[in-house]
Amino acid sequence: MKSYAFFQKKFVPLSEAKIGIMTNCLHYGTGLFEGIRGNWNSQQKQIYLFRLKEHYERMHNGCRVLRINLPYTVDELCQITVELVEKCGFQEDIYVRPVAYKSSEALGVRLHNLEDDFFVFAFPWGPYLDIDKASCGVSSWRRPSETPQAKITGLYTSNALAKTEAIENGFHEAIMLTPDGHVSEGSGENIFLVIDGKLVTPASYEHILIGITRNTVIELARNELGIETIERRVDRSELYTAEECFLTGTAANITPVAEIDHRKIGNGEIGEITAKLQQLYADVIRGNNPKYLDWCTPAYKVSPVTGTE
Ligand SMILES: Cc1ncc(COP(=O)(O)O)c(C=O)c1O
Repeated sequence: MKSYAFFQKKFVPLSEAKIGIMTNCLHYGTGLFEGIRGNWNSQQKQIYLFRLKEHYERMHNGCRVLRINLPYTVDELCQITVELVEKCGFQEDIYVRPVAYKSSEALGVRLHNLEDDFFVFAFPWGPYLDIDKASCGVSSWRRPSETPQAKITGLYTSNALAKTEAIENGFHEAIMLTPDGHVSEGSGENIFLVIDGKLVTPASYEHILIGITRNTVIELARNELGIETIERRVDRSELYTAEECFLTGTAANITPVAEIDHRKIGNGEIGEITAKLQQLYADVIRGNNPKYLDWCTPAYKVSPVTGTE
């Protein structure tokens, strides 16, 4: 099993996909990425790509913001990705990383008069926050005031500063505030609190990336647990008094938060609602819940284990 990339319009081994040091995106952050999970179902010998279409819809929207001319439709991007994953043939959880970027080897801060390109690669990747429950620290680094709904590479520097600050302060993850000091999100995840038995999460105007996992959790909580989610402004002090807290993201799945700024959340254990959502989510993303199969794109036509259709 080895990783491949779809790079400059063809499939090549990942190790052969290289860009030059003058590439515009490398200097000015003029690119955007997505993160897509492929979840291995060991009974079905299948990898399910979760909410593939939604990831590429978000990428297409981001390309409008960055004036990147993406020469593939959402459906074509989905097909390329399925073909890539099938070619890699992994039998474990994977992560798929598409990037659309200003590819000219030309310096100068701008978006115009530059060529665009797209690549995508896949590789095995287990849980992002590889822990049962996380401790978080509120970061001194704030979210930028302009937060387009796209994973723009250049905008991730404040997240990287926040994450390293958190790790060096002994936490697993950072919680970033909005420019005016309200709760926004983690360095690579959205955040949910349980308050009075309801879910509360920072609203779309709170400088968040409107996560696909966030939307999945809102739907599962409503449909399966009868719990509504309130999207609103969240004060920093509410982090300390919430009954439960968890982070959501394609890479991090649903990660319970046990402690924030050295204060225990609830009793410091995984909360009841969090645990139920984790179980539901784990089944849904692996194609084990027939109600949500529309969200799961199977990658293998031919089983990588038996070689049969
Ligand atoms: C800053 C940030 N917020 C939120 C998320 C969660 O988004 P999604 O659930 O679509 O992966 C991510 C995911 O990578 C992220 O980088």
